[in-house]
Amino acid sequence: MAATHIDDKIRRIDALEKARGETKYASDYFFDGMLYALMLRSTEARADILSITTPSLPEGYYFISAKDIPEGGKNSLHMIATDWQCFADGDVKYVGETIGLFVGQSRAVLKSLVDNTKVEYRKKKPLITIDDAISGEPILEGKSDNVMCSLYCEKGENVDKALKEADMVIEEVFETGFQEHVHLETNGAVVTEEGENYVFYISCQCPFYVRKSIAGVLGIPYERVVIRQTATGGAFGGKEHFPDVLAGPLLVAESKIHKPIKLIFDREEDMEFSVKRHPSKVIYKSAIKDGKLVATKGDIYYNNGAYLSASYVVLQRGVFHANGVYDIPSTYLRGYGMATNTFPSDAFRGFGAPQTLFAIEMHMSHIAHALGVDPADFKRSMFIKKGGETVTNGHVVEEVMLEQMFENIAKESDYYRKSKEYGWGSGKGIGVSFYNHGGAFTGNGEQAIIKAHARLKKTGDKVTIEVGSTEMGQGFQTALRKIAATVLELPIENIDYPNPDTSVVPDSGPTAASRSTMVVGKLIERCAIEMKERWGEGDFSVEKEYEHPEGFPWDQDTFRGDAYLGYGWGAAIVELEIDRRTNEVLVKGIWTSHEIGKAIDELIVHGQINGGVIQSLGYASMEKMENRGGRFKQTSMSDYIIPTSMDFPKQYYHIQENPYAFGPFGAKGMGELVFNGADAAYVDALERALGKELYKIPLPPEDIEEALNAR
Ligand code: MTE
Ligand code: MOS
Repeated sequence: MAATHIDDKIRRIDALEKARGETKYASDYFFDGMLYALMLRSTEARADILSITTPSLPEGYYFISAKDIPEGGKNSLHMIATDWQCFADGDVKYVGETIGLFVGQSRAVLKSLVDNTKVEYRKKKPLITIDDAISGEPILEGKSDNVMCSLYCEKGENVDKALKEADMVIEEVFETGFQEHVHLETNGAVVTEEGENYVFYISCQCPFYVRKSIAGVLGIPYERVVIRQTATGGAFGGKEHFPDVLAGPLLVAESKIHKPIKLIFDREEDMEFSVKRHPSKVIYKSAIKDGKLVATKGDIYYNNGAYLSASYVVLQRGVFHANGVYDIPSTYLRGYGMATNTFPSDAFRGFGAPQTLFAIEMHMSHIAHALGVDPADFKRSMFIKKGGETVTNGHVVEEVMLEQMFENIAKESDYYRKSKEYGWGSGKGIGVSFYNHGGAFTGNGEQAIIKAHARLKKTGDKVTIEVGSTEMGQGFQTALRKIAATVLELPIENIDYPNPDTSVVPDSGPTAASRSTMVVGKLIERCAIEMKERWGEGDFSVEKEYEHPEGFPWDQDTFRGDAYLGYGWGAAIVELEIDRRTNEVLVKGIWTSHEIGKAIDELIVHGQINGGVIQSLGYASMEKMENRGGRFKQTSMSDYIIPTSMDFPKQYYHIQENPYAFGPFGAKGMGELVFNGADAAYVDALERALGKELYKIPLPPEDIEEALNAR
């Protein structure tokens, strides 16, 4: 077989197996004597628990709750903080909070046990929205407000002074809603025992996160919890921390029952009782002088829900992306993660950046309207450039190629002709947006916290990749094999990469923040280079640790310095028509260009662009998740609508290469970038078609009607 080259177009490693239905997911694991589990969940958004009365348990059935946590254990999951209770104890803070776990053989019996359990509550007034949290009574213990986490950062001259001296001040409020991940495979896990170890087969992004999060619940060393990631049918951030919420209670159950136990959410459970994208409210106040945007003050609120989980990191990314791709001379940005009694919000593709990027893009378009210039031209006049200062007083290190990228898609879409021709309120519109995404973990995360390791093991002419990073549909297993194969000059078939098992592989950090190809891929490239040099030495392993490049200072206390080592960049154009009677939108064209350093695999990158862009258009147009009194209203795929191939036309895509010094073969992270901007291009087009400025997503037909009727 011929050696694989990085530029070969190959078939994804996992394609055939998945297409044939042969891939083994968590729910496909069966063990002798295996029992099932079903969660007893809170039906109240905020209440004290007065009593829990279960029906009498049939033989072989168990009820596991906080009282089963052994001495030396702790009733909390260790995500970033340890606030999220493993089992609700004393009170509940959101609808769906785990109170207990029924375990036994028949799922029908488990269901009747849950239905016939009586939980007596003393209800308290819940906070649901960001506005509730801003004005409501404090719900966090020992705090006088509902700010769960906050930060600010500042750049340039005094913003208030600029606002005073401005020719024009524009203040606007933007809002985005919840978004559900709708990974095709729902959350699920099976726990069993091997010797003195607890072993999990689990659908997840971050096996080492699960281990760290739950070991403390029993008070045992990490090594006694073994996580084996099973083929993961989509995650999108929804399986970064949330699997811990299944694994914690399962671990306690296993320590009591000592039989294999399976917990798989059905679709309704997975929608109603899982984490979502943070709703946001972003208020910008901007100073315009001599036709330029000179200063912006931003107040950025994210709805964290009841527990912190990854919210602080999500909020940081939101704030750090709040200037978009623009060099606004002076900014003062404050971010607030608000505590409410909704299901905790969590990571979702883009990790906090999409909310502020949507807001800044719309704000820029609106300023352009006020100045009477084409939004594309106004935005282009403000592009940040290489060496430009970021909101955290860091610098853009790469050549910014947005001009070339825009030129490509503007030509393909005939942007300027259409922009002129389709008048304001003509029923037709073309919109444009620009965006970026900081690669890998924010600030000093990579060097101070994660310290990733990766290993290559040689056995004869076969090489095994040992990392804790996971495939979740983004194509990572193929990309990583391709990197190793190219360096080692081997056919890709000679490279193996089994799903990670925490007792075998080194910790290469979470599969999140689009860091895997960029950071872990680089480690594997380094391992492979050494292995190639030493190839004649027989069978051996090479392990490498992350090395942070020089010249990127960062202070985590003040949030100053280079928040990211580099960015991926994007430009999108969307063209549409609106049916004035029904407010139905027909998208006529989608054009994007993405600068991702280098495509490790063009087919996979194309798949990511297609998927990410459509997911973003769904976020803007139809994915509506409402929360009433703490309860999500859309709980099935028939009322939470996601796009299908029928909803949008074929996309034009352009990949801009611009090799990145610290990535494998010049690649940067791209899995989230492709989500970050099509929403704003869509809404830009929509408001031109409607002749009405818009401030909020999602915008299904009924919300368009509401927006049209608003003053
Ligand atoms: N693509 C598919 N098909 N399925 C997914 O779950 N997750 C996204 C993105 N693309 C996801 C996906 C998210 S949230 C991230 S962080 C990146 O992939 C991870 O990319 P990486 O492998 O470069 O880290
Ligand atoms: Mo992606 S939201 O960082 O898992």
